[in-house]
Amino acid sequence: MLPPALLLAASLLASHPLLCYGVDYRQEAERIMTETPVIDGHNDLPWQLLSKFNNQLSLEKANLTQLQDTHTNIPKLRLGHVGAQFWAAYVPCETQGQDAVRRTLEQIDVIHRMCLLYPDTFQCVTDSAGIKDAFRAGRVASLIGVEGGHSLDSSLAVLRTFYQLGVRYMTLTHSCNTPWADNWLVDTATEKPIHNGLSEFGKRVVKEMNRLGMMVDLAHVSVGTMNDALDVSEAPVVFSHSSAYAVCAHRRNVPDDVLLRVKQTGSLVMVNFYTDYVTCASKASLTDVADHLDHVKRIVGAEAVGFGGDYDGVTRLPVGLEDVSGYPALVAELLRRNWTEGEVKGALANNLLRVLEKVEQVRDAQAAVAPDDTPIELKQVEGACRTNYGYPNGGSHPGLPPATMAFGLFLFLSLLS
Ligand SMILES: *[C@@H]1O[C@H](CO)[C@@H](O)[C@H](O)[C@H]1NC(C)=O
Ligand SMILES: *[C@@H]1O[C@H](CO)[C@@H](O)[C@H](O)[C@H]1NC(C)=O
Ligand SMILES: [Zn+2]
Repeated sequence: MLPPALLLAASLLASHPLLCYGVDYRQEAERIMTETPVIDGHNDLPWQLLSKFNNQLSLEKANLTQLQDTHTNIPKLRLGHVGAQFWAAYVPCETQGQDAVRRTLEQIDVIHRMCLLYPDTFQCVTDSAGIKDAFRAGRVASLIGVEGGHSLDSSLAVLRTFYQLGVRYMTLTHSCNTPWADNWLVDTATEKPIHNGLSEFGKRVVKEMNRLGMMVDLAHVSVGTMNDALDVSEAPVVFSHSSAYAVCAHRRNVPDDVLLRVKQTGSLVMVNFYTDYVTCASKASLTDVADHLDHVKRIVGAEAVGFGGDYDGVTRLPVGLEDVSGYPALVAELLRRNWTEGEVKGALANNLLRVLEKVEQVRDAQAAVAPDDTPIELKQVEGACRTNYGYPNGGSHPGLPPATMAFGLFLFLSLLS
C-alpha cells in the first residue's frame, strides 16, 4: 500500500502524462530568464496611468505595486522576469494637429517619474549599455518609444528634442496617416493612401532618426511605408509590436515579403500578443503566439524574433498570457518546440541588443553630420490650429498688432513719397 501522498502523485502523473515535462520546461525557462530576462518592445502602462489617474502617480490608488486592474504592475513584472521595457509614450490620433506634442511630452514625463518614484524597480536608460547595467542591478531597464509620427507635429526639431528626453524609438505612424507617412489602414481600404509610403519629408525623418540613434519602428505603418523605410534606413529597424501576416491575415501584421527584407537588414519583429492579431478571432492561447514566433523564425531566423506584448494597450489577450507575468510560460513553450537556449536568449534580449547596438554605431559614424534643419513645406501642414512663423509670409512679430503694422507701413510709404 502506497502512502496517500505518493498515490496522489502517481494518479496525477497518470492523468496528466505531460505534467512532468511541462514542469521541466518551465524550470528551464525560469533558469534561462534569470540569466537573460526579457526585453519587451511595447507596453502601454503610461496610457493607463493617464486614463485612470491623469498621470498623478502620487495618488495612493496609483501605487504601481498594488495596481490590480492593469496587465502590468511591479509584482507581475518580477514574476515575468521582465528585464527591460520600452514604455509607450502614446497619444491618440485625435491629438494630431492639436495638442499632440504637449500630450506626448506628458507621457514622456510620467515615464521619467515612474523611474524616480520606484528606483528599486525601474532604471531609466537610453542605450544598450544601460540595459545591461539594469540587468546586472536586477532592475527593469526603462526606455521610451513614441508611438506615432503624429506626435512630432511634422517637426524635426521636436524629433531631436524627443531624443534628448530619452526617446529611443518612434513608430512612424499610429492608426492614422501623418503629413509624411501612410498607416496600415490604407491597406484595408478604410483609408486612402496619401503618400504611397513615405513622402520626401518622411524619408528625411528616417534619416534624421538614423543620425540621432533612434530606432525606426514599423508597427502600425502601411506596407508601402515599411518598404520605403527599409529602403532609406541605414540601420536595422524594429517592429515593436507586430505579428506574422501569414499566420493571421490582419494588416497590422508583417507580410512574408517584408519578413525577407527584415532578414536582409538584420531587423527585428517583436511579436504582438493581442488576440485579434494572433488568431484573427476573439480567442487565442499561448501556443497560437508561439506559432507566430515559430513562423518568423522559419522565414527569417531566430535572430529576428522578439516579444512585443502590447500589454495595457489591448482588450483581449491569449489564455496563458493574460498579463506580464506570462513570459516564462511562453519561453517554456518555445523550449518544448526545440528552440535552443541561444535562440531563446536571442528572442528574449540579445536580438534587440544587437539592433540597438547597430543603431548606436550608425549614429556614431554620423557624428560629423549636421542636423537636418530644413522644415516641412508649409503647404503640407497648414491648418487652423497652427501659426506659420518662419515661412515666407508666415506671420509678423506677435508684439506688433496688425494696426501698428499698418500704421508703420503708412509712415514708411509717406516718408518715401
Ligand atoms: C506602494 O505600496 C507599497 C506597499 O505595498 C509601499 O511599500 C510603497 O512605499 C508604495 N509606493 C509608493 C510610491 O507609494
Ligand atoms: C524536438 O526534438 C525531438 C528530438 O529530436 C523530436 O522527437 C521532437 O519531435 C521535436 N519536437 C518538435 C516540436 O519539433
Ligand atoms: Zn500599438
